Amino acid sequence: MAGIVLDGKAIAGRIQQEVAEAVAEMKEKHGVTPGLAAVLVGENPASQMYVKMKRNRCAKVGIESFGYELPADTSQEELEQLVQQLNADPKVHGILVQLPLPDHLDEERVLQAISIDKDVDGFHPINIGRLAMKGREPQFIPATPYGCMYLLHEAEKLVDGFKIEGSDAVVLGRSNIVGMPMALLLIHANATVTVVHSRTEDIPSIVKRSDIVIGAMGRPEMIKGEWFKEGAVAIDVATVKVEDPSAPKGYVWKGDFEFEAAKERVAAITPVPGGVGPMTIAMLLKNTLRAAEIAIEKGVTA
Ligand code: GUN
Repeated sequence: MAGIVLDGKAIAGRIQQEVAEAVAEMKEKHGVTPGLAAVLVGENPASQMYVKMKRNRCAKVGIESFGYELPADTSQEELEQLVQQLNADPKVHGILVQLPLPDHLDEERVLQAISIDKDVDGFHPINIGRLAMKGREPQFIPATPYGCMYLLHEAEKLVDGFKIEGSDAVVLGRSNIVGMPMALLLIHANATVTVVHSRTEDIPSIVKRSDIVIGAMGRPEMIKGEWFKEGAVAIDVATVKVEDPSAPKGYVWKGDFEFEAAKERVAAITPVPGGVGPMTIAMLLKNTLRAAEIAIEKGVTA
């Protein structure tokens, strides 16, 4: 029997509705509008599109967004100065510096400059460090892996007998933005985790034994349908544009999984697009709301 298709778009829509209600309540009770500063350096078209989508979605839920578009030759000092100015601005509760940065900029120093109370991307070394330690809680969880965990919890409700705790999980990919934090979150949730990367020798046998499979490699359909364990839960983060002359637009979006074949074996699977993608922005909105709550708790609002 074919597995359930986890509708990320619908689930993200529900989260956005909840955030919108909480934002309205915050405005009424505290007179505070959550604010997100989105910093973009250079003209990478994909980054421009992501920042635009994030700001549009902020507007939809009543979060104020402040856009900063800096030229590609911005210096380290100029960028860090802007971050410091945003750290001190009580109208800004969350700061997002879109990655990747141009090569001449030191990403780690920029991320380290962001106040951990405003680090809505969860990329500050302290937040990542806490994620890596037992018994510690990061202030914020990076949006994409946070969205994947949310989908896995949804799968726990929908799939009989499926539990994250005690399961065998594989994370395909070890990027700082997705693979690494995802593996850490699964360990926190008491899964047994294998991380697969470019030097891993026998990927099929690892996928075959896994109850949870997270695709975060960006290698279209590399993970074959027949590799999946019967009843597994499959979450595909990859979204790669693949040319296809037979498609109306001349291209299609593909994930890491061979979707149609995988769907026949697994208990639940995310589609591409419409799976993890919409969840990422929803979790960023949730983090920004939380950042505004932290500012209210600490009495540092405008
Ligand atoms: N680049 C790709 N994904 C992300 C993200 O979640 N946050 C930021 N800041 N940059 C990214």
